[in-house]
Amino acid sequence: MTEQKSPCCTESNPGFIELDAYIDSLKIDPIDPERKEKLIMTLHKAQSIFGYLPAEVQKFIANRFAVSHAHVSGVISFYNYFTTTPKGKTKISICMGTACYVNGANKILQDFENALGIKAGQVTPDGRFSIETLRCVGACVLAPVVLVNDHVYGKVKQGQAEKIIEEYLVEYGEKVEEQ
Ligand code: FES
Repeated sequence: MTEQKSPCCTESNPGFIELDAYIDSLKIDPIDPERKEKLIMTLHKAQSIFGYLPAEVQKFIANRFAVSHAHVSGVISFYNYFTTTPKGKTKISICMGTACYVNGANKILQDFENALGIKAGQVTPDGRFSIETLRCVGACVLAPVVLVNDHVYGKVKQGQAEKIIEEYLVEYGEKVEEQ
């Protein structure tokens, strides 16, 4: 079986050219210890280009900053904002903070996992949906909370997952059969 490379990571991806140009614009001095501050800016830029930060992108950045890959991956794991897993076009995020958890967030998560046939941290094979969990998103009064891309769904009930997914399937031009 041939190894499947993520489309983000093939050399033909213009994202690497864009990232390279961005790093050039930062005029990094490889012996300046301050350069590490620019690393976070670069990781933000890379995530905005590729959608996530796979190992190939991390190594590319480490090389340009003359730091180790372990250093880059340490910075990524320190900040919640950065992600090393790919996201679907429709990103479903279930808050697992305390208020949401005590209001049944784990059951809501299971509903989405069952409806899409994937687990948290995974993407559907067609790339349309991904599921992830988050810590408190600051909307506890609406617990349990689900974010779909930038849209907030509050007081989500069990059984609502399929309805929410259907809204996005309609956006993709898919017919949803009346139950
Ligand atoms: S715990 Fe979910 S929004 Fe605060």
